[in-house]
Amino acid sequence: MKYRSLSRLFRHYKRRFRIRELPQLVADMTGTHATMAELAGHRAVVTGASRNLGAEIALRLAASGTAVAVNYRSSRDEAEVVVASLPDVDHGRHLAVGGDVSDPSDSERIIAEAKRALDGPIDILVNNAGPYIAKPFLELEEGEFDRVWNVKAKATYLMTRAAAPGMKDHGWGRIVNLSASSAYVRNRSIYTLANAAIITLTEELALELAPEILVNAIAPGQIYESLGELREKAPEWAEKVMNSTPRGRLVTRRELADMVVLLCSPVFDSVTGVTVPVDGGLRLNTF
Ligand SMILES: NC(=O)c1ccc[n+]([C@@H]2O[C@H](COP(=O)([O-])OP(=O)(O)OC[C@H]3O[C@@H](n4cnc5c(N)ncnc54)[C@H](OP(=O)(O)O)[C@@H]3O)[C@@H](O)[C@H]2O)c1
Repeated sequence: MKYRSLSRLFRHYKRRFRIRELPQLVADMTGTHATMAELAGHRAVVTGASRNLGAEIALRLAASGTAVAVNYRSSRDEAEVVVASLPDVDHGRHLAVGGDVSDPSDSERIIAEAKRALDGPIDILVNNAGPYIAKPFLELEEGEFDRVWNVKAKATYLMTRAAAPGMKDHGWGRIVNLSASSAYVRNRSIYTLANAAIITLTEELALELAPEILVNAIAPGQIYESLGELREKAPEWAEKVMNSTPRGRLVTRRELADMVVLLCSPVFDSVTGVTVPVDGGLRLNTF
């Protein structure tokens, strides 16, 4: 029964975000959360979760029993729709929390508000927000450099700084950062630089925050459902990426969100400071 209602939510979600076509794999996976680790009783903040990958991560965490604070910067209505679509959990309700994660006072407030509303310590943080810019360094404006750097690298630091003390006091915490395969293929200027920084930051934080808090990252390849946006921003790259993945297909939001849940689960209790590429082999060099 529970699975049937989750399938219904997933269908609603696909309709709401106008995802018309998904690989069969995703449809087949609708029931696989039965084998995913349960995270009942936990409380999470997911940044940049009013749509796309962040919204999917919020959904998968909630489906695993986590109460979720859905962060957004300005899209409040979209964030509320995501909140309304999340499955109920036993220990409270999900909520939307506005705020710019690259702003030091907002980052503190987001964690404080989430903690107050969810009535307990935030023990899972997913640093997902991160803008994409496809411009070479010499064409980049300084403001664009700052925006990508600040919302990816600096915000990961600021949000972690805001959340980690509470996790330490609580004696348990999981932080998952979003990097990208662009960190490895190194041809996306500031986007590559910021995503490579996330990998190093993840390792540094894993050392600093052990033993209570595990810090890991995932590095997605081009996401299947985001291909349309990429076609608008960088059409030549969109065509190329389709033919560059040894696996022969692009990664889906669902697969990435499930990997985030796994990294928060007891299955990964001994894993910290790691970045997991989830890219079908896109990052591998060919000769
Ligand atoms: N898309 C891909 O193919 C791909 C591939 C590899 C890696 N990634 C990584 O995966 C992550 C998610 O990608 P995505 O394409 O799903 O992202 P996206 O669609 O650009 O994310 C949009 C979300 O981020 C929020 N956001 C933007 N700036 C923010 C800020 N300063 N503070 C708080 N929230 C902010 C937006 O809120 P508002 O609407 O309110 O501004 C919205 O909720 C990113 O870190 C990205 O680098 C994506």
